[in-house]
Amino acid sequence: MKKILITGGAGFIGSHLVRLMVNKYPNYEIVNLDTLTYAGNLENLKDIENASNYRFVKGDITNHCFVDELFKKESFDGVMHLAAESHVDRSIASPMQFIMTNIIGTVHLLNAARESWKDKIEGKCFYHISTDEVYGSLGNEGYFVEDTSYDPRSPYSASKASSDHLVRAYHHTYNLPIVISNCSNNYGSFQFPEKLIPLMINNIKQEKPLPVYGKGDNVRDWLWVEDHVKAIDVIYHNGKIGETYNIGGDNEWTNLDLVHALCDIMDEKLNKPSGSSRNLITFVEDRKGHDHRYAIDARKLKLGLGWKPSLQFDEGLDKTIDWYLQNTEWLENVTSGAYQDYYKEQYKVNV
Ligand code: NAD
Ligand code: TYD
Repeated sequence: MKKILITGGAGFIGSHLVRLMVNKYPNYEIVNLDTLTYAGNLENLKDIENASNYRFVKGDITNHCFVDELFKKESFDGVMHLAAESHVDRSIASPMQFIMTNIIGTVHLLNAARESWKDKIEGKCFYHISTDEVYGSLGNEGYFVEDTSYDPRSPYSASKASSDHLVRAYHHTYNLPIVISNCSNNYGSFQFPEKLIPLMINNIKQEKPLPVYGKGDNVRDWLWVEDHVKAIDVIYHNGKIGETYNIGGDNEWTNLDLVHALCDIMDEKLNKPSGSSRNLITFVEDRKGHDHRYAIDARKLKLGLGWKPSLQFDEGLDKTIDWYLQNTEWLENVTSGAYQDYYKEQYKVNV
């Protein structure tokens, strides 16, 4: 029986990871630690909330007394650390919470793991789930590899880069057993509708303007969230301690092409005249310091550990759109309240 702590398990990627781990490993005890910010929602885990090998603990990783106590009480064998502030636009508007959670919170977890594992490190692993945005911005050519120099350019990516460095520093300095992965943009069910794909789906559904930053020519490499969590499972179990693995979908899209695709698929699904949703596209002021392109070379993971994405993008978008169209109650719940204020502030329009 192994006991694994997953932080941020009520968020988008975390909830998919908790579900995979609880269902796939009945002999593991999975403890989900989450403070339930606007982005964390226990509704994301309704289907497994009563599983006998699953437990939820509400708590804040920036509170070191709480984190230390939890590690003392529980004796975890492993940590999969996803808890974070994750949205670039919010980090531009107010960076401090990103510093607190992504950097300070990570260090509290590292300290607690170090103390808890000081007498026996065999079989232990602290896995930091990170982003490709730490590598900065690419031109039209080239890919991020694991030893690309860090060049973070938003408060979000700088905070994740900082936490990656600290995780590596704890390995080199204290021999803490760690592994890190840096993944490209995820999409799929349960993603909070502030990120590009769910925001556009929600707006198309409601016939609201579709805010495309700048000219829409920035490029992102999209990966289905369930393929990301399968990669995390593979890396946690078979990755080499101290190593970094890049995870990506080999699936680059300009934002405008992607929004066009979403419009066209949804016109068909909602029986609207062909081309009508594209009329909602509104070019808005560009994001400050907007990174031009992210693209991942994931050969180390593919060739070394045998992972590959399972789903084509057209199927993934189809499934994702269907999920948002079917889960109207979830969407209404998460977009009520504070989301309205965020939306008005970010897009300078009424919701
Ligand atoms: P998310 O914003 O959907 O979820 C983050 C979760 O962390 C939420 O449940 C939130 O309540 C929790 N949390 C935030 N602050 C906390 C705190 N102080 N204490 C405890 N819990 C706290 O994020 P996501 O998109 O699921 O991303 C998860 C992780 O994966 C992040 O570390 C992110 O940097 C990384 N990542 C995300 C992507 C992506 O495309 N979304 C890509 C690569 C890496
Ligand atoms: P996002 O989903 O926020 O992910 P990230 O910034 O972490 O890559 O944004 C993806 C891309 O979409 C990014 O280039 C910014 C752009 N974008 C828009 O054009 N309009 C929007 O309303 C949002 C949220 C993002």
